Amino acid sequence: MPYLTVNNLHKSFGETQVLSDISFSVEKGEFVTLLGPSGCGKTTILRIVSGLISPDSGSVLIGGEDVTNKPAEKRNIGMVFQNYALFPTMNVFQNIAYGLNVRKLPKAEIDERAQAALKLVKLDGLGARKVTKLSGGQQQRVALARALVIEPKLLLLDEPLSALDRKVRAEMQGELRQVQQKVGITTLFVTHDQEEALTLSDRIILMKGGKVEQEADPYTLYTRPNSAFASDFLGKANLLRGTLRNAGGEWTIVGDGWAFPVNYAGGKAGDAVCLAVRGEHFIIAAEPFAGAEKFVIKRRVFSGTVCRLFGSLGGDEVEAAVISLDMEKYEVGAAAYVKPVKEMMLYFKEE
Ligand SMILES: Nc1ncnc2c1ncn2[C@@H]1O[C@H](COP(=O)(O)OP(=O)(O)OP(=O)(O)O)[C@@H](O)[C@H]1O
Ligand SMILES: [Mg+2]
Repeated sequence: MPYLTVNNLHKSFGETQVLSDISFSVEKGEFVTLLGPSGCGKTTILRIVSGLISPDSGSVLIGGEDVTNKPAEKRNIGMVFQNYALFPTMNVFQNIAYGLNVRKLPKAEIDERAQAALKLVKLDGLGARKVTKLSGGQQQRVALARALVIEPKLLLLDEPLSALDRKVRAEMQGELRQVQQKVGITTLFVTHDQEEALTLSDRIILMKGGKVEQEADPYTLYTRPNSAFASDFLGKANLLRGTLRNAGGEWTIVGDGWAFPVNYAGGKAGDAVCLAVRGEHFIIAAEPFAGAEKFVIKRRVFSGTVCRLFGSLGGDEVEAAVISLDMEKYEVGAAAYVKPVKEMMLYFKEE
């Protein structure tokens, strides 16, 4: 049985419907991410699950119990927000022990549990430090320890790493996942960063405009998105408009100055479709080859491991990626030749 279940949530603020018919569940110990663009309703879902606001309709079940009408403080949930929200006048230890003090536990127990939480987030020895004298990453560890020390049954994390710089953020992602697995706590995480979602999650719930767009494990969501939106949001695919054609049983998508054979995945000849191809899924060469189309390179962007090539394919602008080792073969202004890997190509009926 899932540990958290959310059934048919609807929520409007005034005239604006923010959530429509949201349902999903999280298994015990699972790390599930709500992913979607800004304003799609992620924080609103967390606020409903935590009990800070009520849905207009629908229900929330935790551990099999319907808590829809239960006040937030009785739900035993740990929360971490984007902006740390630590108490600036307290030191690290006092911040972490706060929830235990509120619960009026014996002092010896508070000490023991707060020390254990400090250790868990690798801040042992820093208990007496003012939180204002910590780095962003350290502050976020305090926030995590403070949420975990009360031994919640459910952990809700709302973009907890987004204020950190790239390197610290990557480190914290790894640590967050380690701590989560060590404690075995059921976790609902929110981010609008697709890479973070792919890295951390057991399962991703992709949202768009207050609805669930697709729900899957990271690999499936990345390789088998079921809409143009999903393929674009997860890893920025090239979306090319074309027409589905059939010649003697072979299916092809014909676009503005290009044509590529595809594995049939629904639709009929003449349908307007959207072809989704990721930059790294183009086979690319400096010389023409069978089935390839001409690609005129307009811009090269070196970004470490890969080099991204921007240019035109017929009348469309596309992005292809090569490993940086190969970038010298592809000069700006020159023509290259590209063909998508057939198995990796997806197409969707034009919406
Ligand atoms: N209290 C409120 N009153 C009115 N509108 C609200 C309120 N809270 C949120 N909204 C609106 O609801 C929509 C969803 O907001 P929400 O904060 O859930 O988005 P989000 O997915 O968390 O976005 P972000 O990634 O920017 O944090 C937004 O259009 C927002 O403006
Ligand atoms: Mg939000």
